[in-house]
Amino acid sequence: MRIAVLTSGGDAPGMNAALHAAAKVSIARGHDIFGVRDGYSGLMAGAFDPLGLRDIDGISRYGGTVLGSARAPEMHEAAGRARARDAIVEHRIDGLIVIGGNGSLTGAHYLAAELPCAVVGIPASIDNDVGCTRAAIGVDTAVNTIVEACDRITDTATAHRRVFIVEVMGRECGFLAMRAGLAVEADAILYGERAVPEDELVDRLRGIIRRSFDPARGKRRVLIMKAEGVHIPTVQLVERLRAHMDEDAPGVNVRETVLGHVVRGGRPSQADRVIAQRLAFASILTLEQGKTDAMLGWEVPTSFGEPTDDARVRRVGLADVIAESKRLIDGTSEVTIARLALLEHVEQVLAL
Ligand code: F6P
Repeated sequence: MRIAVLTSGGDAPGMNAALHAAAKVSIARGHDIFGVRDGYSGLMAGAFDPLGLRDIDGISRYGGTVLGSARAPEMHEAAGRARARDAIVEHRIDGLIVIGGNGSLTGAHYLAAELPCAVVGIPASIDNDVGCTRAAIGVDTAVNTIVEACDRITDTATAHRRVFIVEVMGRECGFLAMRAGLAVEADAILYGERAVPEDELVDRLRGIIRRSFDPARGKRRVLIMKAEGVHIPTVQLVERLRAHMDEDAPGVNVRETVLGHVVRGGRPSQADRVIAQRLAFASILTLEQGKTDAMLGWEVPTSFGEPTDDARVRRVGLADVIAESKRLIDGTSEVTIARLALLEHVEQVLAL
């Protein structure tokens, strides 16, 4: 077979490990493998590079993606997808592997219907907002990066007796804030899946600050973990809390840190590399079996898709993945319901 691989959308640590495994397995099994430069933009431009073993040696340890990535809105238009089709025909590609998040997998679903080749997806996005996979590639590393950053912030916040609001990426999905917030003993975790009116939120946070810095409690640090999906600007929240500090915790300052793209880069964790390798291996087998329009997911609930040879990996139709991804964000997915229930249980405990 002639197999092409692209990485698309926001890069995620572990994308290179997926490319490495897809290429090495392909070569071992006698396929020709091509890397597509800069995601869907490169696909439309026909930017295909043949990959040999030397091109991929050692890349698993790098964050980002050696293929390059891009956000390509033209893929949502028929004209863009027609250019992609021409490039696939010209390069006689039999199978396309798309490594990326929700937008990229939606593009892959459209392409599967229009291209004269099989298309399979591998979920990669730090946001963990892809349905039908317990983890997307990059999530574990991103959580670890947030934990390390917050531990550092805790050192300085404790030294000075301060309140910090730490904002983390995740688009509309609060997973990174939730998981990392628990790991760093955050005093409150704010996420967009459960919208709280601004005044109510400010009152709740003021209560936490008052109790924490009360001499009877004697805390020296309050850390409020805020997901990007909370639509109250972080600076606004800081200003509102600051206005009451003389009354709530005299002498204590409030600071904010927006971790931003720091969370997206960096050396992939072993967990992300292993997940990437196993999903990539399964993607090659899927193409060999002549299947298309599917994503390989990690620890997928058995209500979705079908098993593969790997007990941790299931193959799910991309239409199902897209529908479940929507439910993850609108709060109707079982996964989101369970996450929110857990957070509600621990909220009071965090605030003690
Ligand atoms: O989807 C990954 C992500 O990093 C989100 O967490 C964030 O909202 C977005 O991409 C940022 O995108 P960009 O790098 O294009 O600003």
